[in-house]
Amino acid sequence: MEIDFVRSRFIKHFDGKTGNVYASPGRINLIGEHTDYNGGFVFPGAVDKGVMAEMRANDTEDTVMAYAIDLKDRVDFKLSDPAGPKASWARYIYGIALEMKKLGVPVKGFNIAFAGDVPLGAGMSSSAAMESCFACGLNDIFGDNKVSQWDMVLAGQATEHNYCGVNCGIMDQFASVFGKAGCLMRLDCRSREFEYFPFKPDGYRLVLLDSVVKHQLAGSPYNDRRNSCENVVKHIQAKHPEGKYETLRDCTWEQLDEVRAEVGEEDYKRAKFVLGEKDRVLAVCDALNEGDYEKVGEMMYQTHEGLSKDYEVSCEELDYLNDIAKENGVTGSRIMGGGFGGCTINLVRNDLYKQFVADAKQKFNAKYGHEPKVYDVVIGDGARKLC
Ligand code: GLA
Repeated sequence: MEIDFVRSRFIKHFDGKTGNVYASPGRINLIGEHTDYNGGFVFPGAVDKGVMAEMRANDTEDTVMAYAIDLKDRVDFKLSDPAGPKASWARYIYGIALEMKKLGVPVKGFNIAFAGDVPLGAGMSSSAAMESCFACGLNDIFGDNKVSQWDMVLAGQATEHNYCGVNCGIMDQFASVFGKAGCLMRLDCRSREFEYFPFKPDGYRLVLLDSVVKHQLAGSPYNDRRNSCENVVKHIQAKHPEGKYETLRDCTWEQLDEVRAEVGEEDYKRAKFVLGEKDRVLAVCDALNEGDYEKVGEMMYQTHEGLSKDYEVSCEELDYLNDIAKENGVTGSRIMGGGFGGCTINLVRNDLYKQFVADAKQKFNAKYGHEPKVYDVVIGDGARKLC
């Protein structure tokens, strides 16, 4: 996306003045799904697609004038209005501004125009891209850049929780803020320690196939999944008052089995997926260190199976894309992100890539009347000021 594109709209829709331009990416996740809010590990990376915003203080006390370039939609609102704007995209601006204020940033009125090239609802976290882009801008314009990267991550997450109705974990906002070109990151969501993993698989590439099934986490069963996990932990804690069980990260397979009858089959299966996923991320780290991409791929297929059968966040179209990957000998394939639509992420050998993509397009089109969208993964940088 070009700065000039965003700038021309900013000039046109406001008072002709220019501001500062910020950009922030969406993310992929190699493995570690629904583990973040369970205190486990994730393995994301930022992508080369995201959100770009031009922003400028407008000398009012608390009036925000916002323009969503892609939607051609203008919304003005006051930060002091307790209800905030109704438009869902504007709630990200309202929410992050209030969260940055809580962190001590004296946010006043501002103008903002933004656009994105990260596909909406594809499971690549367009919402985290917005949050971290706006947070980066507000921190720069009003806060002397005093808010730390981690606090911006948490402000983005709090925006989801408090203004958008999604009780998400920290993976997406983390990846969007801390991303680094060419690197995946292994994050321990409990301790928040992380390390960069240069990712240049020799002879393989990552490609996303977007089912274009709309993915909407707000008001979706995403929060139910989280509740199930928390319920299992509560039961384990009650059985083991001597220990401290905060998330499924602290729980063992034996303890899960102990509470199986009490929590019921649905919650049991969900927790079972999470415990398995926790182990798979660690197995993938070892495999990557050894350059064993076949093992990485095997884990990805297992994750898909678990997300589909136990966690129940897949859908027919994504399962079909996963089957096509298997038929084509693709090394690893799985649903990526929160689920309920969106993309599969595929680790594919270079020599199979062309045939796989062509076959997926043809078969998917024959069954659903449209082709999946194809995004080649390029791992990019995190939130930053462009000018
Ligand atoms: C969404 C959430 C994340 C994470 C993933 C699933 O993207 O925002 O916090 O839970 O789903 O791994």
